[in-house]
Amino acid sequence: MAKTETPAENAQLKDIISHAKEYGFVYPSSEIYDGLQAVYDYGAYGVELKNNLKRLWWETMTRVQDNIVGIDAAIFMHPTTWKASGHVDSFNDPMIDNKDSKKRYRADVLVEEHAAVIERAGDLERAKSLTAALARMLEAEDLDGVRDLITNEGIKCPISGTSNWTDVRQFNLMFSTQVGSVAEDSSTIYLRPETAQGIFVNFLNIQKTARMKVPFGIAQIGKAFRNEIVARQFIFRMREFEQMEMQFFIRPGTEMDWYKYWSETRMKWHLALGTPPEKLRKHDHEKLAHYANAAMDIEFDFPFGFKEVEGIHSRTDFDLKSHQEFSKKKQQYFDPEINQNYIPYVVETSIGADRLFLLTLCNAYTVEETEEKSRTFLKLHPAVAPVKAAILPIVKKDGLPEKAQEIVQALKYDFNIIYEDSGSIGKRYTRQDLIGTPFCIAVDHQTLEDNMVTIRHRDTTEQERVPISELHGRITEATSFRRIFEKL
Ligand code: GAP
Repeated sequence: MAKTETPAENAQLKDIISHAKEYGFVYPSSEIYDGLQAVYDYGAYGVELKNNLKRLWWETMTRVQDNIVGIDAAIFMHPTTWKASGHVDSFNDPMIDNKDSKKRYRADVLVEEHAAVIERAGDLERAKSLTAALARMLEAEDLDGVRDLITNEGIKCPISGTSNWTDVRQFNLMFSTQVGSVAEDSSTIYLRPETAQGIFVNFLNIQKTARMKVPFGIAQIGKAFRNEIVARQFIFRMREFEQMEMQFFIRPGTEMDWYKYWSETRMKWHLALGTPPEKLRKHDHEKLAHYANAAMDIEFDFPFGFKEVEGIHSRTDFDLKSHQEFSKKKQQYFDPEINQNYIPYVVETSIGADRLFLLTLCNAYTVEETEEKSRTFLKLHPAVAPVKAAILPIVKKDGLPEKAQEIVQALKYDFNIIYEDSGSIGKRYTRQDLIGTPFCIAVDHQTLEDNMVTIRHRDTTEQERVPISELHGRITEATSFRRIFEKL
């Protein structure tokens, strides 16, 4: 039978968003109060998928690499941290308001989107010169120039349809709050906008207590917060999100080698997870962040175009040096190999857990059309699928549920397993397809005789008869991270 698949690039983001909500992956936060913009909650299957992705990243960093250790630093940090890091002064986005719609936009995003439209219309040169002009103006902090670019290009607000713009102003993205119980004693602190600083301020603690020698890395997974002006595209740009960051401390002068190493290594990781190579690309930064001397993004072809998933940044010694200045505490490392003290340079890899989640969902979401019906399923890598196997007695009697429960007991301590005995077997298969369960295991009357079950494979819907004794080994083989690690 002729089958056609709708790959992720054709799937509409809105289909993925409604699938995520309908089948327990992601809900708008506090939805009963109509939600909170750019904040989301993960449901029963969403949290499993996200935890698997985080665990995969964590183990890649701390186990596959033998010179990286972990840390779990607090979200709140001493406020001077953010002075030293440059976030108080420089963590800004240029914003512009449309006076008619009262809507606020990121000025750079307006220009970039306009350039993308020009590029799609075939005028690549003009698009390029526009983005280059934007980069120059941002670099020079020429906000009037950015506004002129917007007006001269006739860029209109999509809501009001007018070009009635305010000036461009800088907007700091950090959320602040107060600590201290009495107003007079309270002081302003920030919700961290990146997890990296928790690593920098603990550099010496970790280096000494874990007895690390340069080059070595410190990895962290944790929440970060940014008051994003443009908050849309589902979980792509959130105000509360999770980062998975690794700071790799190196000898000064070796940063370009390590930058190359980490750019390639991280790209390999995405490919090992099954992302098609044509959906990934590298993008070198034209405008560098205040701390970087080289930076690139790994971009994924989301339904709304190629966008950043992960950043690799050569951060020089900017952060440690600055913390040394502000704290008046030496942030040096004595390198016994060259008999020298120095402040290490840093290459950072930084990926958003939520963006990786969205990438994974976009890659996995598949609609398969046959002449009779259409089948929607999530073609998730079994290693990250929220549920590894569903155990399904074909009827709810004759001792089949009891036999199925025996299988559940044999597997549940090692895998996330679902037991389901209500509804037709076809409907139960469909439910598992929708959440991406790689194996459905049907228990029938014959099972009571021969201890064999039917495995139905999610991607092909093919079925095979296997002994119960082989189930554990088969699921282990398919779902183990090892298969991914071996490709790195
Ligand atoms: N420490 C470096 C740093 O924070 P970044 O490029 O600003 O660099 C790194 O962020 C990654 O964090 C991004 O590649 C993205 O995956 C994720 N990220 C950043 N802002 C985000 C947001 N508002 N919502 C979701 N993920 C975000």
